[in-house]
Amino acid sequence: MGVPLFDTDTPRAALRGELEAAMTRVLDSGRFILGPEVAAFEREFADYTGAAHAIGVANGTDALTIALRALGVGPGDEVVVPSFTFYASAEAIPPTGATPVFCDVDPETFVATPEAVRAVLTPRTKAVVLVHLFGNVAPVAEVEALGVPVLEDAAQATGSRLGDALTGALGTIATFSFYPSKNLGGLGDGGAVATSDAALDERVRTLRFHGSPDKETFTDVGYNSRLDELQAAALRVQLPHVHGWCDARRAAARMYAEAGLGELCGLPVATPASDPAWNLYVVRHARAEELAAALRDAGIGARTYYSVPAHRQPALAAYGRDAVLPGTDEAARTHLALPMSAVLTRAQVDEVVAAIRGARL
Ligand SMILES: Cc1ncc(COP(=O)(O)O)c(C=O)c1O
Repeated sequence: MGVPLFDTDTPRAALRGELEAAMTRVLDSGRFILGPEVAAFEREFADYTGAAHAIGVANGTDALTIALRALGVGPGDEVVVPSFTFYASAEAIPPTGATPVFCDVDPETFVATPEAVRAVLTPRTKAVVLVHLFGNVAPVAEVEALGVPVLEDAAQATGSRLGDALTGALGTIATFSFYPSKNLGGLGDGGAVATSDAALDERVRTLRFHGSPDKETFTDVGYNSRLDELQAAALRVQLPHVHGWCDARRAAARMYAEAGLGELCGLPVATPASDPAWNLYVVRHARAEELAAALRDAGIGARTYYSVPAHRQPALAAYGRDAVLPGTDEAARTHLALPMSAVLTRAQVDEVVAAIRGARL
């Protein structure tokens, strides 16, 4: 039958009529930039995350650079970031003028630990980017307790919980991506910054509009980085469904465990007190690449994501030359993403598990 790695089309298809009506509403309004849809989405997304403010920006990468700039990060500063993440988490740092300093991750949870962050802190550390990778929740409070502000990179973790709180409201400032395959995905690029600090909210709003608080005076060299009205309207249609979709992702993870996947590979390990809404369902296996190839032959979507971690990428290698990151190397070698979506069925899960069993690796 075959099982795709992810399926965002099926949930979105159910909302097609509402999405078309939202697109028509924007077209009829003639307002395409920073109009009522963006303002309403910012209010609704802030309410969803539990942060006091949310600011729409063009994508999750800009969100990171702008949030760092809002924190005052600049030339001469260091920003700690895990190397085992999507490249953009680290790529967003050099444009601020600061130096990325790579920290290790726990190869079971795939997120940074307070010990790994502490090991690379220096008097020049201005901020720590903690990535809620694959939807797992990084230890934000524990790292902020080290005395340094945390930027949550929640691009992959919309809807993940720590106790009663959602990602985006755990640290000083947070960033999101609405890339179409994310837990809340748009119909193109989009992103947001969330914070409960009114001064940071103002800074982000200024920076996303060319560094101008009033569109007349330009106080900073900023960015043209805005969420479009069309994207905001599409996101508003989907936002009320995200809670249910995230629960469906959690249920899919439980189905994998019930189907016996844990006998065949290392299941995803949620960090203490967290309840991840897995954006990617990433297991651990000693022969991950071989298993991925066998699964693809069987029609199952499976792939590794970060086999070459950020500190070994050509563009960032100069920053990572001295980094010794054994957890990162292990995670890079052993991780493997299996099919995950809000509409994954038990029959599909059984097919994936049977294919892994059949691969005999
Ligand atoms: C962890 C992480 N950070 C940042 C980004 C960047 O988001 P965007 O693609 O919207 O720029 C992504 C996106 O894919 C991501 O997975």
